[in-house]
Amino acid sequence: MTEKTTAEKIREFSERKNRIGAMGGEKMVRKQQEQGKLTARERLDLLFDQGTFQEIQLFVKHRSTLFGLAEKEINADGVITGFGRVNGRVVFVAAQDFTSAGGSLGEMHAQKIWKAMDMAIEARKPFIALNDSGGARIQEGITALQGYAGIFYRNSIASGYIPQISAIMGPTAGGAVYSPALTDWVFMVKNNSYMYITGPDVVKAVIAEEVSHEELGGAMAHAAKSGVCHFVTENDEECIGRVKTILSYLPDSCHSPQPIAPCTDSADRECPELDTVIPDKASRAYDMKKIIAAVADNHEMFEPHEYWAKNLVVAFIRIMGRPVGVIANNPRFGAGVLDVNASDKAARFIRFCDAFNIPLLTFTDLPGYMPGTQQEWSGIIRHGAKLLHAYSEATVTKISVVVRKAYGGGYIAMCAKGLGADYVMAWPSAEIAVMGAEGACNVIYRREISGADDPAAKRAELAASYEAQFNNPYFAASLGIVDEIILPRETRKRVAAVLDAFQDKSETRLPKKHNNIPL
Ligand code: HXC
Repeated sequence: MTEKTTAEKIREFSERKNRIGAMGGEKMVRKQQEQGKLTARERLDLLFDQGTFQEIQLFVKHRSTLFGLAEKEINADGVITGFGRVNGRVVFVAAQDFTSAGGSLGEMHAQKIWKAMDMAIEARKPFIALNDSGGARIQEGITALQGYAGIFYRNSIASGYIPQISAIMGPTAGGAVYSPALTDWVFMVKNNSYMYITGPDVVKAVIAEEVSHEELGGAMAHAAKSGVCHFVTENDEECIGRVKTILSYLPDSCHSPQPIAPCTDSADRECPELDTVIPDKASRAYDMKKIIAAVADNHEMFEPHEYWAKNLVVAFIRIMGRPVGVIANNPRFGAGVLDVNASDKAARFIRFCDAFNIPLLTFTDLPGYMPGTQQEWSGIIRHGAKLLHAYSEATVTKISVVVRKAYGGGYIAMCAKGLGADYVMAWPSAEIAVMGAEGACNVIYRREISGADDPAAKRAELAASYEAQFNNPYFAASLGIVDEIILPRETRKRVAAVLDAFQDKSETRLPKKHNNIPL
């Protein structure tokens, strides 16, 4: 056999690279396109700055010989891994390609993902998974399970160290759902992505329930019902675009500086619209998002969990270009009451922000915790405790603004001074009390009310005196529980000033292995 020339070897390399790089081939690509989905390579082209993507381990092959796999070539073993730049910043990625053996995960497919994750951890850069896979490669059996376990392990180790983002852009079934669930942010594409532990066929066989893929585990099911999904997008393009947006708010790692955006807004911009945002009648609803947007640079907010636990809003904003995490009750839904889901939503967001050194800004307007058997039996005590724990353990700058009601445990849970708030402000419309006036009088003046000639009139009279004492911010301010009463229009200015003053805040906690948050 004649030896190949160097030119032939180079040509052979290019041919091999192109063949493997073509993934599942034309027919499978067409099928993918017919479903309105992009291929993994097209997704990566959208994600990375042009020409910056560096693929790794393209030539990795599966080594299974079972159930016909010995004869089956799976290009790149169904997953493209590597790194590149997103708006100039380095990001690592694993993009499963449904056109190659359904993006199914076998031993070597998993090891490629491990490698990309290990590199992201070592390099201290964000990791993004683009999921589009039929799940464990059934022919490979247990090695696929080992593969998933190694991914879950890395997701957990990397948690709080580098930001981890999952975009669900196709099927994600069985145990495969747990990698996204272990990451910080889950994006889903409407109609083309679904996540579930078991699909509709198994559901029907086991519990005789008939349900469609979309209903069971589609984007809206997880965005509005389970809370698994943080962001719903219309198509692949929008999904990638929004992944880039969230990256713009996040540092590369917990040890990296915050990404500071150029700011065209001014720190002392007044927000006169906030002087009239609170309705005159205390029982009236309004949309808390108006307050958040008014305070944010250029009125821009990026809101995870928009459709879940709407009684509480979490959002990323910027103030003078710096990322800030906002947590706020929204009286527009259920009077802004705290329940199980709102507590979980807020606690996880607070812990994410604290892990990545993003300051917290809390707006309070809530009547308290939701009473009743449904909430008690769902564990409002356990879930509510997460919120207290998350705020207390957070060492980032914590600013609270009480805009209206702050009653009882709800007042504490929304980052009261006692939970370590660095600065608490209140609007003149604030009402800070242990409970509502009528309820309070029913307890402390029970005898006086029942013994009165006109109990209703007596209750109203006593309630009025209770309200005069507590339904304002002045009593709390006299005790220093509120540091400053501010005009609503001054909120952005005041928040910007405190954030600026606290830029170098450094707080440590007791030396220990880790907290035991009530999960
Ligand atoms: C091996 C798979 C596969 C899998 C898909 N393929 N899923 N190969 N293992 N899990 C292959 C198909 O055989 C086919 O190969 C190609 O991918 C395209 O799949 P289609 O079925 O033609 O696509 P479509 O009609 O769009 O249906 C998509 C689908 C279906 C609904 C996702 O593929 C499906 O039901 N797959 C299996 C899903 C599943 O049960 N997964 C759970 C595995 S157990 P050819 O060669 O024909 O093109 C699991 C446990 C993990 O995941 C636990 C971790 C802790």
